[in-house]
Amino acid sequence: KRQQREAYSDVVTLPKTGAVIGAGVMGGGIAWLMSSKGLSVRLKDIQWQSIELGYQKVVEYFNQLKKRGKVKQGEIDAAINRIGGSLDYSGFNRVDMAIEAVVEVIDVKQKVLQEAEAALPETSLLCTNTSALSVTEMASVLKRPEQFCGIHFFNPVNRMPLVEVIKGQQTNSQTIAQAISVCHLWGKVPVVVKDSPGFLVNRILLPYLNEAAYLLEEGADIEKVDQVMTDFGMPMGPFQLADQVGIDVGYKVAKILEASFGERMQVAPVLEHLYAKLKLLGKKSGRGFYRYQDQEVQVNE
Ligand code: NAI
Repeated sequence: KRQQREAYSDVVTLPKTGAVIGAGVMGGGIAWLMSSKGLSVRLKDIQWQSIELGYQKVVEYFNQLKKRGKVKQGEIDAAINRIGGSLDYSGFNRVDMAIEAVVEVIDVKQKVLQEAEAALPETSLLCTNTSALSVTEMASVLKRPEQFCGIHFFNPVNRMPLVEVIKGQQTNSQTIAQAISVCHLWGKVPVVVKDSPGFLVNRILLPYLNEAAYLLEEGADIEKVDQVMTDFGMPMGPFQLADQVGIDVGYKVAKILEASFGERMQVAPVLEHLYAKLKLLGKKSGRGFYRYQDQEVQVNE
């Protein structure tokens, strides 16, 4: 690791201070990753309740490590103390690398990115954790688009090795080199992908989840489909995965793919129904395709 760090230090500046905007499932996970790698972290959201949830995610991931004897309570306390929550951009003027992880809506992301850019030092790296939106379109509102790229982590951040690094039209090579180096040093596996809807992973994954929803409409049994796909070798079935990702996130990504690829990616009505009518968001809201109560998981009727 030290050799790697020395090798990188010739070409890139590695971040010592980080910021995460949006303290949800992903933002909490990314804050955990940054703090566990020794960075001090600003965790910004628009409500304290979300920041609280972000901290809970950080604690959950550290506790998983502690159970396996990989970290001591003292280290956990120190790492958590390195994270500072806020509703504004205070402290962003000392941040080397900021990652945006707010809702998957282009207008919201553009606004947040503009605000963050204005608060950050001119040299800092700004990234988005978008699942499917155009990095180039986000960059179009920025003053320093060359220092902006996509850095797409997967859920759960503490377990998923892959990170998609997305080069917008104006992103420069130095920024991509920095993003790749950071991923390596944080123990992740970066892959540089094209700035196209859903990039690589979600372009493949979302049609799979969407098709499972069509099967449900045709009368398939949720648990049976999940069991079959697990027996096939997937780590979890499509309905379990949709609940884990979040029905809201899955729905929004599916809509982005539908807008780009048309008929072949038409969103299954059941997804829209769960998200828009029933407001069932999956695991994070306690109900999605399944019900999650007191650790007991039941199929949602
Ligand atoms: P989430 O709904 O858990 O969290 C979003 C957070 O953003 C909330 O805490 C909300 O209060 C906050 N927020 C909304 N507007 C804001 C603003 N203007 N300023 C600051 N904070 C604001 O969503 P999740 O799942 O964490 O997704 C966040 C991003 O990560 C999305 O772009 C999503 O597509 C992407 N993503 C999600 C994955 C998943 O499996 N859930 C995987 C990889 C990427």
